Amino acid sequence: MRIDILTVVPELLVSPLGESILKRAQNKGLVEIVVHNIRDYTTDRHRQVDDYPFGGEAGMVMMAEPVARAIDSLRAERHYDEIIYTSPDGVRHDQHEANRLSMMGNIIILCGHYKGLDQRLRDTYITREISIGDYVLTGGELAAAVIADSIVRLLPGAIGDEESALSDSFQDDLLAPPVYTRPAEWRGLRVPDVLLSGNPALIRDWQHEQAMERTERLRPDLLKYEPTPSREQSNSFELPRREGGTSNEVR
Ligand code: ADE
Repeated sequence: MRIDILTVVPELLVSPLGESILKRAQNKGLVEIVVHNIRDYTTDRHRQVDDYPFGGEAGMVMMAEPVARAIDSLRAERHYDEIIYTSPDGVRHDQHEANRLSMMGNIIILCGHYKGLDQRLRDTYITREISIGDYVLTGGELAAAVIADSIVRLLPGAIGDEESALSDSFQDDLLAPPVYTRPAEWRGLRVPDVLLSGNPALIRDWQHEQAMERTERLRPDLLKYEPTPSREQSNSFELPRREGGTSNEVR
């Protein structure tokens, strides 16, 4: 898989993408993540990427042309399955969306900045707008890092034990059951006996009961899960077939 991230502040992405599981997944060739500075696609001396809004409101607007040039140059190299714009207006990111995106071959994530992006670029290039929550960040970089992280950890081989991604919270619309490690008794508190029983079937049943109980108590909304409404320009919600091949494949 390949993820191209377009930003005006590439520095913000260095550490989130360059450490831990994301670093390992890139080193193993499971994913190629390439960060592009939108200013590199400007043609003027000042490398201008924003301008005043028509209509006179406060704040600056990301200009369409530098972003279009960046996307055009990427699209000349390969096909992209989704061109995502990070914005508080977007559909709320969740585990279903992470699963869906993890099946794709190549995606672009455009980080929003300033007051927003010229609507004409949104209308003509963007296939999906994603929000990571109902709050406003100073820019879309942290949102892009969250989205990329949630995708990459799902790629087969990205985390040591693949089972552990499958048993994450939300993966089956349930919160994860509680977990314990040694010692079996800590400050007078014992690990539930069933976990020490050595009986895998009993343990699985207990974990499922715990997951159900936790979900009902803490996130009853998950039990009535309805898929994120897809935007008219977005692809269907169905999980697509995983694209074969590695990141730098030109398609
Ligand atoms: N940019 C600013 N706020 C955002 C949010 N909540 N989600 C995604 N991108 C954003």
